[in-house]
Amino acid sequence: MENYKELETTFKQIYSNYHICYSYKTNYTPAICKCVKNLGGYAEVVSDMEYELALKIEYTPDKIVFNGPIKGKYLESHLLSNGINNIDRIEEAKYICEIAKKYPDHQIKTGIRVNFDIDAGYTSRFGIDINNLKEIFELLKSNNVEVNGLHCHMSRARGIDAWKLRANTMLKLVENYKLYDIDYISLGSGMFGKMDPELKAQFPLDAPDYDLYAEEVISLFAKFYKDKDKKPILFTEPGTTLVSKYVDFLAKIIGVKNIRGKDFVLLNCSFHNLGETSQMKNLPIRIFKNEVDIKHVNNANFVGYTCLEQDVIYRKYTGEISNDDYVLFGNVGGYSLVDKPPFIMPDYPMIMLDNEDIQLIKRKENFSDIFKTFVFEE
Ligand SMILES: Cc1ncc(COP(=O)(O)O)c(C=O)c1O
Repeated sequence: MENYKELETTFKQIYSNYHICYSYKTNYTPAICKCVKNLGGYAEVVSDMEYELALKIEYTPDKIVFNGPIKGKYLESHLLSNGINNIDRIEEAKYICEIAKKYPDHQIKTGIRVNFDIDAGYTSRFGIDINNLKEIFELLKSNNVEVNGLHCHMSRARGIDAWKLRANTMLKLVENYKLYDIDYISLGSGMFGKMDPELKAQFPLDAPDYDLYAEEVISLFAKFYKDKDKKPILFTEPGTTLVSKYVDFLAKIIGVKNIRGKDFVLLNCSFHNLGETSQMKNLPIRIFKNEVDIKHVNNANFVGYTCLEQDVIYRKYTGEISNDDYVLFGNVGGYSLVDKPPFIMPDYPMIMLDNEDIQLIKRKENFSDIFKTFVFEE
């Protein structure tokens, strides 16, 4: 909650029409989505499943941003209820034109996700190539569909320069296409968020904080719109940035073994429980020691319950440990439980701690949760 408010306040101080749009795919735990809604945040969804969740959390379509390459049955009702939508591909634009033809008395509005190079070393597959925008603007206009927003999102480019390039490109598009009436501009996500010092130290560059993004990036909007009559909403779509540091995973040491000189520590979780960051860096850990039958391990790999060699969840641990010690992994809020397949074991429960208050927000999964969709022969 504090992180949300800090991000929002820091950006709003520079550009007052800034809003947070929370990325459901990062962690769609309903208790987290509800918390964002209570704080006034929008919902960013990329599928009918996530759209349904936003409705269940009692969002109205005007506070839901529909992104993603494949939207389903909710797109039509979303557009008819003044929902926010970003076109990802030409087929979607044509489909929206069909909706506009079907409802000639309704002004259909949509945004467009724009794809341009930010020198991140890969070609993104999302959105409309910036060089093909003219064609899509003409198609939408000739079908009486209004373009009311611009969106971009690039992963693997969290630094300030990449963010300045996003902002400057979007503002250039506003000028080139005379989009002075649009309702919003979204810069997507992929900012550095709050991290424990142990994790932060593993990044080669000093990760920028919210103040620096505000000074260097958000200020470009404040400057551009200073004397303009209409100041569109400026969105970012934080996922990891908002939640990662605020979810921990508590695992237990089940066994310790040495194979030809290499130490392995087996835990009762897997890399699927801990999310993608655990595969790139060592997550911050705290060990709660049992102090019974203590063993010393050297450069040990912590490994998970799956039968996969790549299930390594912490590397090069040196120290004293015992069976039944608890290991608390920090920074696991992003792409962890949403990315946990039903592989080998059902998932663990989740609790929320609010000062003295402890609340179960997801129960432990069981056999029937996993197998209820399969047909068992009589
Ligand atoms: C369109 C879009 N918005 C927001 C996000 C969330 O990004 P992050 O988790 O880096 O904050 C993603 C992640 O892939 C995304 O694709």
